[in-house]
Amino acid sequence: MENLHKYLDAAIGAARLAGSYQRYRFATPLDVDMKGDKDLVTEVDRESERLVVQHLKELFPECDILAEEGDYQQSGADCRWIIDPVDGTTNFAHGFPWFCVSIALERAGEIVAGVIYNPVYDELFTAMSGSGAYLNGRRLRVSDRSPLRDTLLGTGFPYDCATDPANNFDNFMAFQKAARGIRRAGSAALDLAAVAAGRLDGYWEMKLKPWDVAAGVIMVREAGGVVTGFNGAPYSIYENGILASNGLIHDEMVAMLKRVAAGGEK
Ligand code: IPD
Ligand code: CA
Ligand code: CA
Repeated sequence: MENLHKYLDAAIGAARLAGSYQRYRFATPLDVDMKGDKDLVTEVDRESERLVVQHLKELFPECDILAEEGDYQQSGADCRWIIDPVDGTTNFAHGFPWFCVSIALERAGEIVAGVIYNPVYDELFTAMSGSGAYLNGRRLRVSDRSPLRDTLLGTGFPYDCATDPANNFDNFMAFQKAARGIRRAGSAALDLAAVAAGRLDGYWEMKLKPWDVAAGVIMVREAGGVVTGFNGAPYSIYENGILASNGLIHDEMVAMLKRVAAGGEK
């Protein structure tokens, strides 16, 4: 993986391709299927994934693919693309203009590059290991806001929140009281990009999949932020709870999540 730039350029090309298609299909009639009780998938999710995978496979046939809508054979290659073709499908399907394409490159188990593209706002977030995070070419830096009571946070709720008590409602209530406000915008990748850009000061969510967070995690870290599990321990994109922040409020957020888990915060 001598030159990460060519991988990043490829991911940017793929994200713009799928993003243009999404802009063109936004607010048009759609075929929609249900994957679960609340979990939608549209023809645009599937076609976007096809466009992204085709573009990346043409340029890097040797790399594996892990993407939300397809089951791709894993060869154990040193490089793997992790793709969410539409993050924010519920928003997309309802005509709510807040969704993105998210693409990350994993190398030997580590995320080394990420691209998040919001086609409605034409905002392109990019990051490469050790080279910083950028929004439309402008360097990003997390916010310097603290303490927790002065901050704006982001979160989301799992699709099975009506049937499984592990639904994040208790954390939401506790943070809503403790912080200035919380936004539930409906795209984990854009939430993480917002932390990287200093638009949100912190973000937490549970039961996410690797494609929801892979590009966002490198975005936050390269913008000077911190990403851990709920307990403050090192985070892997394959685990359950993610906590991302500007670093300054991280300990306060970990302490809150621990208090809630222990039943001591209502
Ligand atoms: C979802 C979004 C949402 C989060 C969900 C994710 P999808 O991804 O990121 O913000 O709360 O848990 O599954 O289904 O729109 O790709
Ligand atoms: Ca997603
Ligand atoms: Ca998706």
